This record gives sequence, structure tokens and C-alpha cells, in this order.
Amino acid sequence: MDETVTAMAITYITDLFRGRSDGHEAEHSLRVYRNALRIAEEEPGCDRDIVALAALLHDADDPKLFPTENHANARAFLNSMQICPETAERICAVIDSVSFSRNRERHPDTPEGKVVQDADRLDAMGAIGIARTYAFGGQHGRSIRESTQHFFDKLLLLRDEMNTESAKRMAESRHSFLKLFLEELEFETESFRPPQAL
Ligand code: NI
Repeated sequence: MDETVTAMAITYITDLFRGRSDGHEAEHSLRVYRNALRIAEEEPGCDRDIVALAALLHDADDPKLFPTENHANARAFLNSMQICPETAERICAVIDSVSFSRNRERHPDTPEGKVVQDADRLDAMGAIGIARTYAFGGQHGRSIRESTQHFFDKLLLLRDEMNTESAKRMAESRHSFLKLFLEELEFETESFRPPQAL
């Protein structure tokens, strides 16, 4: 695929996500894109063009962020680039298979879906996952305590959900860092608890 398509996709999502500060900025999609390409290097049979565009566009129609239906934003971009309908369908199918909430128990069927899902989930772990959790929580009126619950509902489960061997390796240190953070948070907030009544 023409490299300009990737460059144009980066420009498209930069405009689409402009002004966000909830952990779903364009930088998130760029990190997913970079990690997905890294993971794809170890996945034979993986179409790197599909991976690249699906990663860049994976949140372009996230219902948490946009009121679009049937991948309208992603399709508008792909149409504008004259991507053939068959390839556009494959990209939308990969995007469909990535979402955590809709696919909690399921792993994607395609190698491209496995790679992009892993890359998206990695970005919810480690230091960046922590930063994104509190950015998102704060934007949605959640307290630090309420946002911290998200670690137990989702983030700590991700390490064991990875599809690919390379993402499993990358997830280990990020998972350890999440646990270290939670231990320190507990330690620090315990120490700020009011003293027990004597
Ligand atoms: Ni995402």
C-alpha cells in the first residue's frame, strides 16, 4: 500500500481526535499503530497494510467517543483514499474484533485482529495505562478511588488475554508495573487515613 495512505490516516486521526484529553487522543492510536507493527513482525501471514490502517482507525468510531454507525468515520477515510471495498471490509472487520467490551470472551479470528487487539490492550497497561485511566476517569467525573476500580475490572486481566507471544512478553513488565503502582497507592493512601480512635 502507498505510504501516503498511512501518512494521510495519521493526519485524519490527528484532526478527528483534536482537543481530546481523556486518554483517547490521537497519540493513543499512534502508539497502537507502532506496537501493532512491532508485534506483526513476529506474526507470519499477517497483512501489515491491514494492521497499519486498522490500528490507526481502530477508535475512529468507538461508541464511547463518536456517535457514528457502521464505521462511518473509518469508511469515509478509506473511501477518500480509494481503498478497494474488499480491503475496507477487512479493515472494518479487524476493528470490530478489537473492542474489549464487545469481545470480552472472544479472541479475534484473523492474525491482523489478534495483533491490533494486543497492541490496543498493551496501551491500557503499564505507566501509559495508568495515565490514561485517570485522564479518562477525570473527564467522566470519576474520583481517583472510582478510577482505580478500573484496574481490577479490566487492566489487571489483560496480561492473560494476549493473543500473540510477543505481546505476552511485552505485557509482563507492564503488568508488574500496574501491580507495583497499586501497592504504592495503597501504602500512601493508608498512611493518609485518619488515625483510629483511641
Ligand atoms: Ni483504543
